[in-house]
Amino acid sequence: MSKLFSKLKIRGVEFPNRLVLSPLCMYSAKGGIPNEWHFSHLSTFARARIGCIFAEATAVREDGKITPYCLGLWNDEQKNAFKQIVNFIKKMGSIPAFQLAHAGRKASVKEPWKGGLPLDKDDEKDGILPWDTVAPSAIPLANGFRTPRALENKDIDNIIQAYVKSAKLAIEAGFEVLEIHAAHGYLIHSFLSPISNKRNDEYGGNLEGRAKILKDITVAIRNNIPDTTPLFCRISAVDGIENGWEIEDSILLANMLSEIGIDVIDCSSGGISGRPRFAANDDGSVLKSIIDRGLGFQVPYAEEIKRNSNIKTMAVGVIVEPEQAENILLEGQADLIAMGRELMYNPFWSLHAAQKLGADPEYSLWPDQYRWGVSRRSKIEKFKNVK
Ligand SMILES: Cc1cc2nc3c(=O)[nH]c(=O)nc-3n(C[C@H](O)[C@H](O)[C@H](O)COP(=O)(O)O)c2cc1C
Repeated sequence: MSKLFSKLKIRGVEFPNRLVLSPLCMYSAKGGIPNEWHFSHLSTFARARIGCIFAEATAVREDGKITPYCLGLWNDEQKNAFKQIVNFIKKMGSIPAFQLAHAGRKASVKEPWKGGLPLDKDDEKDGILPWDTVAPSAIPLANGFRTPRALENKDIDNIIQAYVKSAKLAIEAGFEVLEIHAAHGYLIHSFLSPISNKRNDEYGGNLEGRAKILKDITVAIRNNIPDTTPLFCRISAVDGIENGWEIEDSILLANMLSEIGIDVIDCSSGGISGRPRFAANDDGSVLKSIIDRGLGFQVPYAEEIKRNSNIKTMAVGVIVEPEQAENILLEGQADLIAMGRELMYNPFWSLHAAQKLGADPEYSLWPDQYRWGVSRRSKIEKFKNVK
């Protein structure tokens, strides 16, 4: 019996297996509305029977988009466009999941394939206007980035309400799992990290203060979604920068969050200073993350949080081999495995992994439309015994 292909129940939702498509920004929407690209992208992974499929980071309000082309969910037009995608994912037996996001001081930039730097005059010529960014403190991400406006308490209330509205719309669209994006240097992470949060009011200072916005958002969302809906939180388990957020902070945070309705900590890392080539202090020294990005490099964070709390964890980051994924689960390092780039590289990785792990000898995971042909393919001499 493969653990990777075993079921997992969280609240009212039964995950058909432990594999999760990690949220992947596509920077391909207009007006925040999902289109045929998003359908095509996400439906591929439903055909691949990934147990749980995350749509990309979706802004809870306009100024929370990373680029002008990010998805958003604050109106019915956006909600209705998600429905077709969600319905297909469910039809294939997978669980549709939604990531609630606000880009904070990392908003208003170009797509990564155009460099990811702030929108500028060239974009304005094309009618794409930059917008003001917000953060806990008026500290830019790095030299050359826009200085964000420090949020006042009344603005924070509005942001919390935007998260709640988006969460409710996501439930109405049919999503069965929600995740709060509190990682990668975006708004909530910028409150958590002492690198970017220099406030001395109730939303700053010690860890309790810096975590307040996340706790307030969690409680507000939990009170407005069904009790049966699993709520995940993606964190950057470490900043990887001196005097930044550390794994001990993540363990304390995980314990706080498990008491107020978070079910899974999705353990990522980094992002508070942008990509190293952008990140320079005023004196020119580089705020460089020291995270080494090798095979399964973030798995130890998922393991440490799991061992020091009562909360489930999801491991992510350079998990590429079926046996590697299986062992992470067997050794109790995490409860779920999220994958991003390897699944884009090889979208049917999951179906091949099931073969390799002996979880699908009869090709029963394959959709009807493919099974007939694929199972006959395996009888051809050339493919016999090839996994
Ligand atoms: C193209 C791309 C888009 C991404 N978009 C998001 C996103 O929307 N939200 C998020 O939390 N992480 C995002 N990430 C990070 C991935 O979800 C994942 O955590 C990361 O790629 C590490 O996993 P991997 O090694 O399996 O790719 C993105 C990564 C890539 C490569």
